[in-house]
Amino acid sequence: MALGLGCFVQAWRRRFETAAHKRWAITGTVLSLTGIAVGVLGARFFGWEVAQRLPWLVAIHRKVALASTAFLILTAVTGALRIGIHKRLYLIFLPLYVLALVTAIIGYQP
Ligand code: HEM
Repeated sequence: MALGLGCFVQAWRRRFETAAHKRWAITGTVLSLTGIAVGVLGARFFGWEVAQRLPWLVAIHRKVALASTAFLILTAVTGALRIGIHKRLYLIFLPLYVLALVTAIIGYQP
């Protein structure tokens, strides 16, 4: 998930070079969605249990991660369709993604 963040930061830095921007953005999206799928499927269907250090923070993490995933999909779709709002969505998406990452790192035990 941290690699995904690295890709999104690169995508933002190269936002005026559309080809490079899209490469970084799509790589980050694929990495993140793969990570999310592994986590959700592992927990739901394979009974993985990750030890929690702060269960209240993990509860917050789940809500923020859901919102951040929705904004990731919205950002990718509006970018692909070149819808104007795409240029602003990172203002909500990036902070949510960072918050989801930080709450997971602190909420779960190393
Ligand atoms: C799969 C995901 C993405 C795709 C396919 C995509 C695609 C695009 C495209 C085609 C443009 C040019 C729009 C135009 O010329 O009208 C663009 C611009 C832009 N994208 Fe993305 N993008 C994606 C993800 C992201 C992400 C994750 C961010 C932020 C971290 C982002 C931030 C921006 C910004 C700020 C611009 C505007 C640049 C300007 O002012 O001209 N995009 N994107």
